[in-house]
Amino acid sequence: MLRRTIVLAIAVMSCAPAFSQEAGDVMQGQELAQSVCAECHAVAPGAIRSPNGHAPTFDTIAHMPGMTPIAIRVWLRSAHKEMPNIMLSRDETDNVIAYLASLKADGAER
Ligand code: HEC
Repeated sequence: MLRRTIVLAIAVMSCAPAFSQEAGDVMQGQELAQSVCAECHAVAPGAIRSPNGHAPTFDTIAHMPGMTPIAIRVWLRSAHKEMPNIMLSRDETDNVIAYLASLKADGAER
């Protein structure tokens, strides 16, 4: 009986991180965006212009057709001409994706 309880506890514990990784944390994503991406991208909701004129605002990115979580993931893992290759952990990537999704969700239609 005790043995079964332990096995169950381990199973539950090893599941928990998987769930939180998938969900992503909007607030943490926003903080990360402000500290890492805001140097070039305007990251606030509704912002019109980015500090780097070539970088689209996060609001714009969020509303781009085809900008799915997978597309963002791929973008962040590949090399680009203008945007540096920023190494984010899996959690950080999920959080940024969650933040972008939140911009899309509460943004006005455009
Ligand atoms: C040093 C400047 C710089 C930083 C820092 C930066 N970016 Fe960018 N980003 C750019 C530029 C410039 C582009 C325009 C496309 C290009 O690079 O060819 C871009 C494009 C993008 C695109 C793709 C938009 C498209 O047209 O498909 C995404 C998504 C993106 N950035 C996300 C991020 C995220 C998330 C961060 C922070 C973790 C970040 N960027 C940090 C400069 C930057």
